[in-house]
Amino acid sequence: MKRMMVAMLMALAMMLQVAAQDEKMTAFVNTLMNKMTLEEKIGQLNLPTAGFFVTGTAVNDNIAQKLRSGHIGGMFNSFSVASMRALQDIAVKESPNKIPILFGMDVIHGYKTIFPIPLALSCTWDMELVEKSARIAANEATANGIAWTFSPMVDIARDARWGRIAEGGGEDPWLGSQIAKAMVKGYQGDDLTASNTMMACVKHFALYGAAEAGRDYNTVDMSRITMYNDYFPPYKAAVEAGAGSAMTSFNVVDGIPATGNRWLLTDLLRNEWGFDGFVVTDYTAINEMIMHGMGNLQEVSALAIKAGTDMDMVGEGFLTTLKKSLDEGKISLQDIDVACRRILEAKYKLGLFDDPYRYLSEERAKTEVLTAENLNAAREIAARSMVLLKNDKQVLPLKKTGTIAVIGPLGDSKADMLGTWTLSGDLAKTSTILQGLQNVGGKAVKVLYVKGSELTDNPAIANSPNPLAMVSPAKKSESNKSPEDLLKEALETAAKADVIVAALGEPSAWSGEAASMTDISLQRPQRELLEALVATGKPLVLVLINGRPMTLSWENQHVHAILEAWAGGIESGNAIADVLFGDYNPSGKLTTTFPHNVGQIPLYYNHKNTGRPMDAKNKFTSKYLDSPNDPVYPFGFGLSYTTFEYGEVKLSKTQLKGNEKLMVTVTVKNTGKYAGEEVVQLYIQDPVASVSRPVKELKNFSKVMLQPGETREVSLEVTTTDLSFYNSNLQFDWEAGDFNIFVGTNSRDVKSATVNWAK
Ligand code: NOJ
Repeated sequence: MKRMMVAMLMALAMMLQVAAQDEKMTAFVNTLMNKMTLEEKIGQLNLPTAGFFVTGTAVNDNIAQKLRSGHIGGMFNSFSVASMRALQDIAVKESPNKIPILFGMDVIHGYKTIFPIPLALSCTWDMELVEKSARIAANEATANGIAWTFSPMVDIARDARWGRIAEGGGEDPWLGSQIAKAMVKGYQGDDLTASNTMMACVKHFALYGAAEAGRDYNTVDMSRITMYNDYFPPYKAAVEAGAGSAMTSFNVVDGIPATGNRWLLTDLLRNEWGFDGFVVTDYTAINEMIMHGMGNLQEVSALAIKAGTDMDMVGEGFLTTLKKSLDEGKISLQDIDVACRRILEAKYKLGLFDDPYRYLSEERAKTEVLTAENLNAAREIAARSMVLLKNDKQVLPLKKTGTIAVIGPLGDSKADMLGTWTLSGDLAKTSTILQGLQNVGGKAVKVLYVKGSELTDNPAIANSPNPLAMVSPAKKSESNKSPEDLLKEALETAAKADVIVAALGEPSAWSGEAASMTDISLQRPQRELLEALVATGKPLVLVLINGRPMTLSWENQHVHAILEAWAGGIESGNAIADVLFGDYNPSGKLTTTFPHNVGQIPLYYNHKNTGRPMDAKNKFTSKYLDSPNDPVYPFGFGLSYTTFEYGEVKLSKTQLKGNEKLMVTVTVKNTGKYAGEEVVQLYIQDPVASVSRPVKELKNFSKVMLQPGETREVSLEVTTTDLSFYNSNLQFDWEAGDFNIFVGTNSRDVKSATVNWAK
């Protein structure tokens, strides 16, 4: 009783403190806004790019002049403390009200210490590590002037053709929500004014991952019930975790572009979810509403501000038309004031008014970036993000003796270890597969390397530049060799080796923004190389470097071992070697489905049943004539060098009522020779409900470490929140009845039990 009273008093004190701080902020912003001209207020809504790298045609120039006259609120993607200091100097010394600039950047998976791409990071199923990666990114970026990152991207994606699947946490709304929370917490910490925390920006609100046919920027069409149940949860989780800003998506939501969609940005985001940060557009998203058919620049800008958009990224629609719209009575002064206030509040929350230079630290930039500690974390996280897809005849782990032939165009390519959005990366410090095997293998291992093939023979792909990915300088020794010569060299090198490590997949430039593909198999020259290596009969490990699921039916049938290593960041090569040699026993699990072929897409585990579920013996059931329904690797899949055996699913009760909690217990035994971690996954199904519910939904998991021979009881809780869903009135509730509970090593291989839950 006494303890409860103390807790309540403490909560009350905290609330009062927050209220007092809010009041102080409001008073400060009021005083400032009273001094600002209309022009200056509109200036705060303007976000030009510094022009270091661009993802479209930016409409901004004359930066210094605009800063001086108060026509800029924030800037993004500029490098170096010196350049930002010079810009901040102009803002706080020469602009009318000396309002500091908010510097942002796409710090997506690390600043200089580059971590695995977000899709890979999600495969760790380790929220502490996810948070840690964001924390380190914030520490490094803030030392270099960045107070605001355009991350996390939490768009649910069910389509591997979409290149930006690389940037998110996969296909599951529940796991995606855990990741969203961990990222926001990692970036923002407990105190946004601290000089080493930065403001998060949840993006792309909303539904960007559902672009039709996986073609980037394409339109989206979705029912509200699917939005609420399957696509909104991670955005909502980021908001609940306190994300200070949100970015609109390029697509339409229910027919209206997100950037001009008042239902989305005001009714849902602010009124339903209680978001109190500011909304920035994606790159020229206001201007793009012209092409969406919403009117001219003045009209779409007015639409955006009235919908709840606060800041205009590089489009200058706000800067050039809002005054006119105000004069013509198309928008109100309050529309502008509200947006301006939100941006000033963000600067206040970051402490920029106290010290505009607090994130510009030459000293910290020198001492706190790329530290040994950060690199170790990157290596550990990369190893934990890798997913072992196949390991026949225990080809892996490799022995630290004999000769290993690394063969493939990605075997010694620094830039392709980093992945998309890594322009602040450091190529010199990045390890490749070849280097990693040399570093970790020790003296008794001889490592050979040849390129073996080109990445592709399709000029459209080969010649498509990608400003968001780094490119390694061409190696002289590899240039101008014919495909025949490359293959000949590969086979000669393979002949000298005890084991072949084929390093294939997709370079960094083939995933990320504007990098959609209709063919997600290994490109022809790589596949031909792999076929020739398989034909040698030597032990063969395929190490995949890529940013999206690929179609691997053939590889799964013919290659002995497959390690999905993704674009693992700066320590990729060392981490891959840690895994290949067994210094780290892989524990990653897929967060996205790997289909047999592109024709199956969209293919995801938490689908609804059809009225005619697949039955091989019955023609008139839901299936293809030429393809299985199932994927090659399902959601949650991932092997270990050891094996785990699951016992039966035990329930604390089989009949529950109201807000009781269910405890689900299963014994897991390590039946192999190696110590290893297993992600024990719990799924539920509501088989009878007022709306058709998915066949399975992830609701909990636990990652456990087991020594050889060790057995552990793993208990996972299920609450009525886990049973709840948005019904056809879009109310979030659960419905009494039976529920199937599944526990297993992936979404396909599970054991089950049934519970009855009464209201
Ligand atoms: C466009 C991308 O869609 C978005 O994710 C990114 O943050 C902005 N460009 C800024 O670079």
